[in-house]
Amino acid sequence: MTRRRLAGWGFLALLAGVLAWLMVRPMTFFVVSDRFAQTVDTRSAPAVLGDLRAETCGACHRAFHEEWRTTMHSRAWTDPYFQVDWAFEDRPWICRNCHTPLDRQQPRRLLGFRDRQGLQPVLAPDPNPDFDPGLQHEGVTCAACHLREGAVLGPYGDSAAPHPVRRMEHPNQVCVRCHVVDGERWDTFLRLPPCGTVTEIRAGREGGLRGRSGETVLPSLAELGCVACHMPLAERPLVAGGPVRRTRRHLWRGGHDPAMVKRALTARLAVDRDGRAAVLTLANTGTAHYLPTGTPDRHLTVVLRALDGRGRVLDEVRDKLIRRILWRPVIVDLWDTRLPPGRPRTYRLPLPPAAVTVEAVVRYHLLEESRRRRIGYEPEAPIAYEIYRARTDLPAAGGGEGGEP
Ligand code: HEC
Ligand code: HEC
Ligand code: HEC
Ligand code: HEC
Ligand code: HEC
Repeated sequence: MTRRRLAGWGFLALLAGVLAWLMVRPMTFFVVSDRFAQTVDTRSAPAVLGDLRAETCGACHRAFHEEWRTTMHSRAWTDPYFQVDWAFEDRPWICRNCHTPLDRQQPRRLLGFRDRQGLQPVLAPDPNPDFDPGLQHEGVTCAACHLREGAVLGPYGDSAAPHPVRRMEHPNQVCVRCHVVDGERWDTFLRLPPCGTVTEIRAGREGGLRGRSGETVLPSLAELGCVACHMPLAERPLVAGGPVRRTRRHLWRGGHDPAMVKRALTARLAVDRDGRAAVLTLANTGTAHYLPTGTPDRHLTVVLRALDGRGRVLDEVRDKLIRRILWRPVIVDLWDTRLPPGRPRTYRLPLPPAAVTVEAVVRYHLLEESRRRRIGYEPEAPIAYEIYRARTDLPAAGGGEGGEP
């Protein structure tokens, strides 16, 4: 072999090696930002807050505790989908910082990370003496959002409480800690950061984002509207016998709540003017972000079909509203067919002559069936549900009214 040929083969082997490494290397798809790089420090918590458990806050703030208990925040750790997914990814420590963010919720003290991907945590050598497994099971518990530097953050900041209080900068600020995940890395080519709820709000306003995602630039906090939509207003006292105040219900409904998802969608099924096609229009009228939003697992499926007199399908149009990301060898946004706010989408189905009925069905999926099987997740509740169904009988062809038998 000549020297040039040898060099050529060497180069190819190197290339194949790099590619093979890119296909199997350990990977998290986000960058650890300052917002969630550290746990919430609870060492200066006032004694009156005791063990910091939700139940302890609930002894005084009963209604808030009752609401929180019904939410995915309270299940952010015990959620079987999270647990299976986390195990499948070899249990990276970084996941704990959003799913169990208090220092006492983690079995070791987290001192920092060696890498930006969060795959190499620096942990204190000894077990965490303050670790409380019961508190860990509370996931995103009261103190995760409310406790900072020994004070309870609240919207008023001046209530006569037995614990110190301080005013939060803005209620939406609380959400930003965990609901923004940035993706800027050398091997990342995303239009929106992964799970980019906040960036989606900006994209929705500006009529779409192009090019690579950068560090998320937040629009003004007030504009985000997270709390306005996800924590409905209620006039009530904070504690039994306390003054009635303007409060927010601690409900945070999302993909696990069909009623919430239905509220986001406006759909209309019609037959066009000359009766030749069925027309389905879908619009995201209930969110400021995309529909669906959150993890890229979430998606909608759409079917619009024409049926004959015996209910047989003559023809149909199908679609999937999803964000498709290529994860390996590098991370690339392939396409995104979800619904941004304010930009309706229309489906047309030309009607076959024998059609007597048209039908439209839209379903919401928490994750893809293929992914469910791959990670071995066996859910108790279905991973998909219907959010819209409509049926229209077509006007009889030929004009005859067709008398009753
Ligand atoms: C011993 C009873 C008690 C316990 C325990 C307690 N609180 Fe309070 N909290 C109060 C009272 C009383 C107020 C003031 C009510 C008012 O003025 O309407 C208050 C006020 C608040 C406020 C409003 C602060 C503001 O001024 O903006 C928040 C938020 C709050 N508590 C959260 C919590 C959380 C979270 C916990 C647990 C970590 C907790 N509380 C534990 C009694 C308690
Ligand atoms: C400490 C991190 C953290 C903070 C702060 C936080 N969240 Fe979450 N949130 C989560 C996690 C983790 C989940 C997913 C839990 C699961 O499904 O396992 C979640 C889930 C949700 C969901 C989806 C519920 C569903 O049905 O799937 C909504 C909506 C939501 N959060 C809204 C908010 C809003 C609004 C705020 C601000 C007031 C907020 N969150 C603050 C971590 C956080
Ligand atoms: C995911 C974040 C989050 C969690 C978890 C959370 N809260 Fe809140 N809480 C908020 C936000 C944001 C506000 C401010 C709402 C507003 O603008 O009035 C708030 C307000 C309050 C208030 C003041 C009344 C009001 O609605 O404004 C009380 C009391 C309170 N929370 C108690 C609790 C208790 C008790 C728990 C646990 C059982 C808890 N919170 C869990 C985010 C959270
Ligand atoms: C105009 C109302 C509105 C605003 C503003 C809004 N949301 Fe939503 N959000 C919804 C509705 C409706 C849904 C259910 C449909 C969907 O999943 O898109 C939802 C769904 C979600 C989900 C569920 C995703 C999942 O995986 O299950 C999360 C998380 C969420 N929103 C977070 C946020 C955050 C964080 C903000 C602020 C940055 C915000 N939302 C602002 C209305 C809103
Ligand atoms: C920056 C905060 C953050 C980090 C870090 C994080 N998550 Fe989450 N996770 C969230 C939030 C917020 C949600 C809910 C909103 C959504 O659907 O995106 C969520 C939702 C999920 C869900 C969907 C659960 C459901 O309700 O169906 C899974 C599974 C999950 N996370 C797994 C992980 C794993 C595994 C890791 C570590 C590799 C991780 N998360 C790291 C914030 C985080």
